[in-house]
Amino acid sequence: MLYQILLGSIVDINPEKGTFSVLVEAYNRATVELVELLEEGEEIFNIEGPNGTPFPVGKYGTVLLVGQGWGAGANYPIAKELLSVQNEVYAILAGGSRENIYCEEEYKTLLGEEKVFVYTEDDDYGKEGGVAQAVEEFIRDVKRPDLVVFAGSPVGGEEVAQITRDKGVKNFSLVASTMLCTSGLCLTCRVKVGDKMVLNCIEGPYLDGNSVDWKMVTFRNGYYWDLEKEGAEYFANKILPKLKRKKQKT
Ligand code: FES
Repeated sequence: MLYQILLGSIVDINPEKGTFSVLVEAYNRATVELVELLEEGEEIFNIEGPNGTPFPVGKYGTVLLVGQGWGAGANYPIAKELLSVQNEVYAILAGGSRENIYCEEEYKTLLGEEKVFVYTEDDDYGKEGGVAQAVEEFIRDVKRPDLVVFAGSPVGGEEVAQITRDKGVKNFSLVASTMLCTSGLCLTCRVKVGDKMVLNCIEGPYLDGNSVDWKMVTFRNGYYWDLEKEGAEYFANKILPKLKRKKQKT
C-alpha cells in the first residue's frame, strides 16, 4: 500500500535519536488506514520525503504563522527556525472545532501564551472564526506582520492571500496540491504562481501565497473528491473492520 499523506506534516525532528514526528489528519482511505491500523512498534517500510525546497528561513521581523488544522504541525518547525534568527513570531491555530486544533501546548511553550491565538469556526474553543477573521483581527489588534506564513487548505490559503495582498504583506504559503510521484515526473502537482506553472513537489511546498492561483488548486484537488469520499466510506465500513479482526488474530 502506498500512503499518500496529503494532509500530514513533519512536526518535529530529533537528530540525536534519529526520530521525527508526523501529524496526520485522517480524511481519506490511505490516512484512515494509517491511523487506524498502524500500532506502536510496527514499521513502515519506506517513507519518501520531505520533498521540494526548504523554507526560506531568514530575518523578516514580525512573522505571523497561520496554521489551519494540520497546518499547525507544518508551521511548528518553521516557528523554531524563525525564532532562532531573531524574528518576533506569533501563531494562529484555527480549525473547524476544538478537535482540529493541534500543537497548542507546543506553540505556547515555544512562543509564550500571549503570542498564540486559537480560533474555531463553531465557537467550541478559543475565539470564534476562521483564518481570514483571525488574520484581520491580528492586524487590527496586535500589529501588522512583515511576513505571514500559511499552511492549511487551499480555500484558507486564498482567504489569507486576499488579506496579505491588500495590505502589501509578504506571504509564504504551503500549497497542499495533489501529488503522486513527488519527483517531478507525473505533473500532478502543477501550481500556477503568477504567470508561471511550477511543480510543487520540486519548488514547493511553500510558495509565494500572494501569487498562487488558489482557485485552480482548489479545483484540481476537488476533481476526484466524490470518488475519494466514496472510497473512504467503503473502506471504513466494509474493509477496515475485517482488517482489524484479521490483525487481532495474528
Ligand atoms: S508529484 Fe509528480 S511531478 Fe510533482
